[in-house]
Amino acid sequence: MTVTIVGSQLGDEGKGALVDLWGGDADVVVRYQGGDNAGHTVVEGGEEYALSLVPSGAVRGKVGVLGNGCVVNPRTLFEEIGTLRERGLDPDVRVAKRAHVIMPYHRRIDGIEEGAKADSDSGVEVGTTGRGIGPTYEDKAGRRGVRIGDLLDPEVLRERLEYVVPQKRALVEDVYGLEAGEELDVDALHEEYARFGRRLREEGMVVNCSDFLYERREAGDDVMFEGAQGTLIDVDHGSYPYVTSSNPTAGGAATGTGVGPTVTGRGEVVGVVKGYLSRVGEGPMPTELDGDEREEALASDIREKGGEFGTVTGRPRRIGWLDVPMLRHATRVNGYTGIAVNHLDVLAGLDELKVGHAYELEGEERLSLPATTERWGECEPVYREFDTWEEFDADAVSEGGYEALPGAAREYLEYLEDQLDTPVHAVGVGPDREQTVVRTNPWT
Ligand code: GDP
Ligand code: IMO
Ligand code: MG
Repeated sequence: MTVTIVGSQLGDEGKGALVDLWGGDADVVVRYQGGDNAGHTVVEGGEEYALSLVPSGAVRGKVGVLGNGCVVNPRTLFEEIGTLRERGLDPDVRVAKRAHVIMPYHRRIDGIEEGAKADSDSGVEVGTTGRGIGPTYEDKAGRRGVRIGDLLDPEVLRERLEYVVPQKRALVEDVYGLEAGEELDVDALHEEYARFGRRLREEGMVVNCSDFLYERREAGDDVMFEGAQGTLIDVDHGSYPYVTSSNPTAGGAATGTGVGPTVTGRGEVVGVVKGYLSRVGEGPMPTELDGDEREEALASDIREKGGEFGTVTGRPRRIGWLDVPMLRHATRVNGYTGIAVNHLDVLAGLDELKVGHAYELEGEERLSLPATTERWGECEPVYREFDTWEEFDADAVSEGGYEALPGAAREYLEYLEDQLDTPVHAVGVGPDREQTVVRTNPWT
């Protein structure tokens, strides 16, 4: 059986916490897209782990796989594994031979292009994490990428680099008029990346992802797919161009691992929902709390209480009310069998509580999202007010179960179940693994 965990909004919904919670019953945890732009937090008995590339199952000692749909920076991968080892974990990470490699020139170009967009007044600056994600996926689609499998064969690696590096050098020097550095030196790159290839091989980390997962499933293993980012920053289904360059949506679990869609589709697909909204980076956010001083103060309270600062970049996250048209869109795109709603503790004790129930666009009310980002930006939220609930003891509530949640919080959740026609499987009432009210375990 499989369980897929997907972000329903703009990333940072608390996917890491849910993968950790339910990953306890899995044997293998697989990332199917993205790279070290992700920042997934796991809190176990007060110990906090911030995972970027290593699948969150590592905290539970599960086998972690980076699927073919991922983009892998070997420098940061080995750094992260080293840090986790220093903290007493022993991550068992496998990397797909078909996954693409983030090279140093991808990071450089990510920064250069973001700078150029910012200078251009074009309004298309994305506010990327600067990890080289977009440029690496561009090279994958452009059929000039370097794959993990290429690192294992020094001759192939040299051929790939000799073709692509002069193009990147021309881009940096001739198009942008900047100076190229070590990141565009074929010999230096070859030396370092062939060494990564040897290390990956020696440590038994490279796999044919599809075969590996097939064999594990044949042996009776349960597989969890860990989505990174979120539906609204999906390159196909999100707020293009303010998106990441991969498919965080549930379909990505099949294409990004080589497990058939009939297999992932027979399993559970759980959407992770933050009880309000946060966004790092540019792009529309109709329910953003930034209208006046009072709204800004409220956003600032929520930001402080919820620790809403980027795990990867430390940027303060933009804050807004829950956007229900966005969630209707996510429910359809991902085909959720259930949702998990986090951060109900952060909403406790507020003076007011609203959700964007619908949008108004050109005098018409609509329940779903326009497909173009410009139109989405013109949408005015139609709010519904909810009763607020008092602060509560997260540990007592997690122990007491769903009925122990404040009545007003249950009303909020039941409104969502009704609007999305999807059951709430779990409710987050704090960052720790134990601070979750579980109603349904997706494995059973
Ligand atoms: P991810 O990228 O989706 O894995 O989410 P992040 O880890 O980037 O951001 C979620 C943040 O909220 C982390 O600091 C989590 O520890 C924390 N968190 C997760 N669930 C809850 C919850 O229910 N309540 C609170 N207060 N924090 C939570
Ligand atoms: P997790 O997995 C939130 C955002 C960036 C930027 C856009 C493109 O922790 O939820 P990129 O570097 O991917 O090219 O940036 O996507 N972004 C995220 N926002 N959570 C993430 O990951 C994100 N990964 C990328 O801020 O707006
Ligand atoms: Mg995150």
